[in-house]
Amino acid sequence: MEVVPLSSADAVAALAADTIEALVRSRPACVLGVATGSTPVPTYAELVARHRAGTGPSYGEVRAFLLDEYVGLPAGHPQSYRATIARELTDDLGIAAERVHGPDPTDPATAGASYEQALLDAGGVDLQVLGIGSDGHLAFNEPGSSLASATRIKTLTETTRRDNARFFGSVDDVPRHVLTQGLGTILRARHLLFIATGSGKADAVAAAVEGPLTASCPASILQLHPHATVLLDPDAAAGLARLDHYREVYAAKPDWQGL
Ligand code: F6R
Repeated sequence: MEVVPLSSADAVAALAADTIEALVRSRPACVLGVATGSTPVPTYAELVARHRAGTGPSYGEVRAFLLDEYVGLPAGHPQSYRATIARELTDDLGIAAERVHGPDPTDPATAGASYEQALLDAGGVDLQVLGIGSDGHLAFNEPGSSLASATRIKTLTETTRRDNARFFGSVDDVPRHVLTQGLGTILRARHLLFIATGSGKADAVAAAVEGPLTASCPASILQLHPHATVLLDPDAAAGLARLDHYREVYAAKPDWQGL
């Protein structure tokens, strides 16, 4: 795991965008795993701005796979993750709707197995963008989730429903159920690009990066992955005991290495 403490949330977005663009340039038909929520919004906005300015790569051959999706929202609901990613990223990058995949919330009993098959058929995810919940969840794998889990239905914790109420107006309107890639699914992605910003994530980041590997902090599976990159702003990095060391390592990183 490479922990990269950066000077600001804007610096996180810029480096995350650089990393995604580098992949798309080197592998135009790559498979991107996309998270939703507030954290990646500045990264996605940066990618879109560069694309509009003509400095970004072509995304015409890229396929995108959602990390998770709410169950029980009416089709086309603006807060569904399919609608959100189209609005925030894929439409503006020119990734056609049929190249954007997500677990099917209309058939939650079979959606998990179908989604796992779709990921396999696509050849797996090349780069997975990840955020973290204030309770340590990764995708919608809440504390207690199996470290080997596959895509399936899960029940959100009250903490997560309260955190996400800002998107819905009231906590009562936040769905209880979701479909989410499992922790085992996420571990199969070839590169994990984990981003966290803001003081509300500091405790969860410290637990995920420096705490024990445990189902009580699902994001601690980052420690199991051979290529996990952790981009943090100063607030999100504030709880890390080895912060100075991560800074030294990044400052001394060989130019040829990349992320
Ligand atoms: C979203 C997802 C979630 C979010 C997490 C943080 O697809 O899988 O795990 O990454 O809830 O959300 P924000 O970024 O809104 O704080």
